[in-house]
Parts: sequence; structure tokens; C-alpha cells
Amino acid sequence: SGQGAPVCVQRTIAREIKQLEKLAKGRYGTVYKGEYKTQFVAVKKFHTKEEDSWKREVELYNTQSLAHTNILRFIAADNRDNGVATELWLVTDYHENGSLYDFLSSNVLTEEMCVNMAFSIVSGLHHLHQEIDGLVTKKRTIAHRDIKSKNILVTKDFQCCIADLGLACECGPNGTILAGSVESELTPSAVAQMSTVGTVRYVAPEFLKLEVQNELFNPFMDLTKADIYSTALVLWELLNRTVGFFGSDAESVPEYQQPYDGMVQSEPTIPDMKRIVVDQRQRPPIPSTISERLSTGANEAPSSENRLDILVGIVNECWTEKPATRLKALRIKKDLIPLLTVNDP
Ligand code: ADE
Repeated sequence: SGQGAPVCVQRTIAREIKQLEKLAKGRYGTVYKGEYKTQFVAVKKFHTKEEDSWKREVELYNTQSLAHTNILRFIAADNRDNGVATELWLVTDYHENGSLYDFLSSNVLTEEMCVNMAFSIVSGLHHLHQEIDGLVTKKRTIAHRDIKSKNILVTKDFQCCIADLGLACECGPNGTILAGSVESELTPSAVAQMSTVGTVRYVAPEFLKLEVQNELFNPFMDLTKADIYSTALVLWELLNRTVGFFGSDAESVPEYQQPYDGMVQSEPTIPDMKRIVVDQRQRPPIPSTISERLSTGANEAPSSENRLDILVGIVNECWTEKPATRLKALRIKKDLIPLLTVNDP
């Protein structure tokens, strides 16, 4: 099942790629721009010690139906021994606008772009989270576990797609981890792997609490709820670079900021994040004009007048402390549909 080609075909593709410049470097390895026949591709080369991430990502692309506009398209995977080490490759579509983090660092958004990008991210997330049990298409619920602006790419028509499935895991329909096929067969090593959280800055309150109390990963947690929290932070990153959020002209748009910038140090630790997010219940700043309108219930029907207010309302409902009260991706999609701009003549 899945859209992945058999490994031998994938390998043939991978070996015909002409390597071009370096695009990005991360904890996992390095991403290069490459050329395959007449198209550009992105080649992610994993560090040897990140073999588990490579395996995880390749396995998900090969066994789950991940063909979706808002999920980075898989092209091929390859592992080859160069005599010194094993090279682990993942080949995907190339997007010249780079990551959402890069894009927001150098561009401001119109309200339309903000809402459209938000919708595209949530559509990709909904596809990951959705269980599909059709005759042809089958997929499990997948929790991404490392949603952040650096793991989202921007297409040439300013849509977003979700990338980096190296920490993702298959879940039961209620979002709890599925290791192997039987839930009760959680091996110690599976639990240990699942205890690795994504990026500290984006870690959900329920995980911040666990880590500090030195508890083991709780296998009954709904991991899709943690993705929703991280996504709310990404939606705030969009809002913070949108004209009309802090003021009505492009000059009043603040510089790009990561969530919680100025509230925590540049490489925050779990205890740093717990103090701000759980103990002090702080969240990234929302202009008081918008919060006041929301708390007085001044918003009724969605219209083009109050789109950013409605998006802020959604963000507020997605970064709540209690996982159970956060919105589901499908609910967010439905709430955003009336705000989308249809470019009819
Ligand atoms: N940076 C990381 N992955 C990328 C991709 N697929 N396309 C463009 N830039 C990237």
C-alpha cells in the first residue's frame, strides 16, 4: 500500500540525482538541493546516529497513505555504504520558498495569506491525524510530534506542507501510541523512544509537567492534542507577521519572532518552558484590542471584517493547558473555511 515505489526503483532514482547546493542543516543531518532528470528535488541526508529517524520516516511514507497537497511529497529513499559509513537519503519535492521559518523571517503576510497558510497547515495536520479505513486507502492516525515552523515548507503558491516525520508515530483512533500492533506490547525501548519530545520550545504543557516530575512517558496520552498545541504556536507565528494584527500598516508588523521569544532564553530547557507555560500560564502575546473584542463577545458571524479575531479565537482554543479542551484539526478546518478568500472574478 502507500504511494512509495519499491526500494529498487527508489534506489535507481536516488542514484541518478545530481547534487547541488546545501539548503539547511539540523539535528538530524543536512538537506541538499538536487536535480533528478528535469526537476529539482530535496535530498535529506541523515547522520548515521539518526538511523531511527530515517527508518521511521521512510516506513511511514511506504506504509501509510500520505499523498496530500499539504504533506511534503516523498520521491525515494536510499541507504548506501560508502566504505566509511552508511549514507541515509530521503528524497522529496523541493520548495524554493524554503521553510515557513525562513519565509516569515523575510516576508510579511496579508490577512488572506495568513488565513490561507493557516488552513493549509491544518489540512495537512488533519490528514496525518485522520484514520482512513477505506477499500483502497488505509492509514492510521499519525501524531507528528515535532510540529514547528522549521518543519513546514512553503510552496511557490504560498501553501504550506508539513515535513519531517522522523519522530512521528502511529496511534490508535484516540491518539494513544501504538507500538507494534498490540497496545499492551509497549516494550521499554518503544516507551523510551516515545519519551523523546520534539523541540523544547513547542512542547505541550502535559509533557512539560511529566519531564519535570521525572515520570516515564504516559502511554495513555493523546499525542494528537500535543500536535494541536504546537500548531497553535505556528499559527501565532503567522499572525505575528500579518499586516493588521498589531497595526494596520506593513511598518507596524514586528520582526519575525519564535513563540516565547523574549519570555525564555534562546535555547530554553524543559524547566524554563514549564515555568512560563505551566506555572505562569503565559502564551505568546495577542494585541489587547483583539483579546478585548473576543472577551466581550463582539464577534458573531465570520466575515472578512473579523478574520484575524476568529483566527485568534481558534489559537486560544488550541493552546489551552488541558489537552481535552483543544480543538481537533477537522474542527479548525471547518471554522477556517468561511474565512478563506475565493479568488472568483
Ligand atoms: N529545506 C528543507 N527541506 C526543503 C525542501 N524540501 N525544499 C526546500 N527547502 C528545504
